[in-house]
Amino acid sequence: MKINSQKLVQAAAKARLGSVSPYSKFKVGAALLTKASEIIGGANVESASYGLTCCAERIALFKALTDGKKDFVAIAVVARCDGGPMPCGACRQLLHEYASDAKVFVADSGDLKTIRTFTMKELLPSAFVLFL
Ligand code: THU
Repeated sequence: MKINSQKLVQAAAKARLGSVSPYSKFKVGAALLTKASEIIGGANVESASYGLTCCAERIALFKALTDGKKDFVAIAVVARCDGGPMPCGACRQLLHEYASDAKVFVADSGDLKTIRTFTMKELLPSAFVLFL
């Protein structure tokens, strides 16, 4: 499947507008692409109890999963920082569990055409898996 990284990055930039980040003011958007060509966006949501904050990647993933979406082929993440935002460790774990084959595109919201691409295996080698 040919993935249009530019289109997915643009969807992440659009999703970023929904960021609820009154504390950090750091707006992050994410967009997941499924094998069926659906795009699911999400943005970070912060809490006054800071640790309850949820990253854009996980919001997008939870929205997608609870809507019955699967077979994720890519995720784009956008924020205003040089080179684009790298997913945090918690998001890497969840993406590895539910989107292990997904390509990860990151871009600076100020320069959506410069896209860095990673695989989940690169971002989380030797991931934790549950042997039950
Ligand atoms: N954040 C994300 O949404 N994704 C990341 O990959 C890193 C951090 C959010 C969480 C918090 O709302 C803000 O960025 C500052 O850490």
